[in-house]
Amino acid sequence: MQEPKKPNDVALPIAAVDPAAERAAEQSIYLQLGAEKFWQIARAFYARVDKHERLRPIFPEDLQEPIRNQAEFLIQYFGGPQTYSDRKGHPRLRMRHAPFPIDLTMRNDWVDCMRGALIDAAIPEPIVALMMAYFERTATFMMNKP
Ligand code: HEM
Repeated sequence: MQEPKKPNDVALPIAAVDPAAERAAEQSIYLQLGAEKFWQIARAFYARVDKHERLRPIFPEDLQEPIRNQAEFLIQYFGGPQTYSDRKGHPRLRMRHAPFPIDLTMRNDWVDCMRGALIDAAIPEPIVALMMAYFERTATFMMNKP
């Protein structure tokens, strides 16, 4: 007979159970998606930024360099080659974002564009959930304005 479900027997985010397991899961994503999917995500993300009333003005006019930065960074973070750091050094994301005014609204706008980009690039579950958990917490960490 099956054990009755305990009241706390719920699906916790993997990070709440084992942060090392979550990091290992994140780092398996590159192997599952391949480099081209990350370029698709970066292009889809910046296509959304390009049309965004609040986000567009804080990005450079030419989005080719941001697309490259984002694709190479995500490839590196999610377990692929370290091309980003070979080119630019340690990501130091919070420092690199200091020049841009990032409040809760901008943070949420950024996260919405990224969620949309994962859909545009047809990224499957459970990879979307893992990637979004990373984006949600990191975007919060980027906030530098009340
Ligand atoms: C999960 C959260 C985020 C990640 C992983 C991320 C990642 C990055 C990376 C890797 C770069 C390139 C930095 C460089 O190499 O110089 C960058 C640049 C930038 N980010 Fe973010 N970012 C995040 C959140 C945000 C948010 C919330 C905003 C503002 C709403 C923002 C605005 C910018 C801007 C304006 C740039 C400059 C464009 C460029 O030079 O590539 N980012 N971000």
